Amino acid sequence: MTLAEKIGQLTLVNVGPGVLPGDLRAAVRAGKAGAVLDVVDVATVNELQRIAAHDSRLGIPLLVGRDVIHGFKTVLPIPLGQAAAWNPELVQQGARMAALEAAASGVNWTFAPMIDIARDPRWGRIAESFGEDPHLAAVLGVAAIRGFQGDGLSLPGAIAACAKHFVGYGASEGGRDYGYVGIPEVDLRNVYMPPFRAAADAGVATFMAAFSDVNGVPASGNRFLTRTVLRDEWRFPGFVVSDWDSIVDMVPAPVANDKARSPLSPGMEMVSTTYRDHLPGLLAAKRVDPRLLDDAVRNVLRVKMQLGLFERPVTDPAVYPGVASAANLALARELATQSLVLLQNRNGVLPLASKRLHSLAVIGPLADDAYEQLGTWAPDGDPALSRTPLQAIRETVGARVTVQHVRAMSTTRTMTTAGFSEAVAAASGSDAAVVFLGEESILSGESRSRASIDLPGNQMDLLRAVKRAGKPVIVVILAGRPLTIEPILADADAVLYAWHPGVMAGPAIADILFGVESPSGKLPVTFPRVVGQVPLYYAHRNMGKPASQASFLHIDDIAARTPQTGLKNASQYLDAGYAPLYEFGYGLSYTSYAYSGISVEPSRARAGLPITVRAVVKNVGQVAGDEVAQLYVRDLVGSVTRPVRELKGFQRIHLAGRKPGGFVSIVD
Ligand code: NOJ
Repeated sequence: MTLAEKIGQLTLVNVGPGVLPGDLRAAVRAGKAGAVLDVVDVATVNELQRIAAHDSRLGIPLLVGRDVIHGFKTVLPIPLGQAAAWNPELVQQGARMAALEAAASGVNWTFAPMIDIARDPRWGRIAESFGEDPHLAAVLGVAAIRGFQGDGLSLPGAIAACAKHFVGYGASEGGRDYGYVGIPEVDLRNVYMPPFRAAADAGVATFMAAFSDVNGVPASGNRFLTRTVLRDEWRFPGFVVSDWDSIVDMVPAPVANDKARSPLSPGMEMVSTTYRDHLPGLLAAKRVDPRLLDDAVRNVLRVKMQLGLFERPVTDPAVYPGVASAANLALARELATQSLVLLQNRNGVLPLASKRLHSLAVIGPLADDAYEQLGTWAPDGDPALSRTPLQAIRETVGARVTVQHVRAMSTTRTMTTAGFSEAVAAASGSDAAVVFLGEESILSGESRSRASIDLPGNQMDLLRAVKRAGKPVIVVILAGRPLTIEPILADADAVLYAWHPGVMAGPAIADILFGVESPSGKLPVTFPRVVGQVPLYYAHRNMGKPASQASFLHIDDIAARTPQTGLKNASQYLDAGYAPLYEFGYGLSYTSYAYSGISVEPSRARAGLPITVRAVVKNVGQVAGDEVAQLYVRDLVGSVTRPVRELKGFQRIHLAGRKPGGFVSIVD
């Protein structure tokens, strides 16, 4: 290979404004582009692949990358919602389905799964994560990788996965995207790296370097991360791609004083052209070791070979099952149903199973919005495929229940109250009101950090107004992150947290509302009471002066001129206490479960030997449901401090209820 051809293999070109297809064709023909991203039209992909395979000197096919983050045409719940289902089998099936849909367009590489640990709901990309826990993220990340890569990369329909963003991106200071990341090695190793280690062990084909400056050295030029850990310790054989422009982003950092610094830390460069522009000079000046270049090229070629691209560079869409098929929509519905978390249910207001329910008000900006329910990463999704909550509620109840719909606010950020009186009238004239609140999809995702994570716009006021109608109020929240919802709890008899559930949001939500299914989602992330508590996560260390009910006196209850010695010193906030609103792992059901017969074998742990924990879980309620059994451990004494609890295992189990037929719901 010539030097230009080697650099070509490390060049990932975006197809978008500024990149003329003509230029791209020429670049591919000259072997100067080894990979493209964001081309999803199969005819164009095939044309480029034919040029690469047949018209370029070496005949090396292209990697065709795309962000297939939560579905392709069939949009699944956002990853944070998928995590709330605590169901690795479904996550794997979802990734398999997405891989097949994407592969039919010629995509052979996805920039997923994102397995960043996310403990700050201000960070918009929490939506793309599997939440705050290393074990949950590792298990679900591996499931997604298995789904994308199938039974072998060379089999049709397998696409290369990418473990991203290596590493620590979720710890961006202040939850500001692209912010500085300071993580001591003990936490890098115990919290942020485990999902990536699991991904490497599971055979993920590629890694992506984080945008972040990690402990003073940007991940895109961080030898400790991409060489010492990834190659030397973990023996990762695939290649590492930079993030979008993250190599030139080191100039303002500034660890590179000009663009002529390419440490070849990531093996492939996304979008920016530092390698192309500067590597020849750096090699000539002996400032870059040519063996690094050869290694990087070898790693890329190996993945292309594993994918079978040399044998099958061109995609025949006819060999793939149809996109957005009935089976795919059914899978999207199941995953969405399992992702819904019931947070509050006063007086058993849900399910709406009473035969006396004759009328229902369906209110709010997200009740009937086919676009917003899709969530942050749905570039290939089609809102026309969406089934909205309003549609599904109408279909479910049929003519038996009169449904009045009032949007009341044009977006979640609207500040006018013009639609409120109509909403209140609808609630007054109905037996109950279901209010769909939350965040539009544009408010979470990349570069969508928020300093306040309250419900935006006038939504609180809308809810208060509806509540004054005096009817039971059920709030369904669609959002890309945990929101600070404590203020709504007084006015909401029930709260169902739906994340952005994707194309089948409607049927999934309707099934829970009317008791066709029992809610089974559990929080993959802690919900703070106020944003100032962030970061707040269950697996915190035990501080020297842990807080407790006994230690806490609220700011309003402190007498004037209380001496400094008059309060207990503890790790807490005077105005927000120490506890979250809802803990990681929390979620209600329409039934209840009892645990008994818990056994631990061997009863004394010995280093290096597995411990088996068994329990009998019984459904002691009336109706069938899924329980997510969660196993936590605590290391009581160690050479370093350990969290107060750590998730080490979980299992979703279906348990029949006493009534074999499930609910007597209004749809029976
Ligand atoms: C930037 C994002 O950080 C990354 O996650 C994504 O895969 C790339 N853009 C490509 O779109």
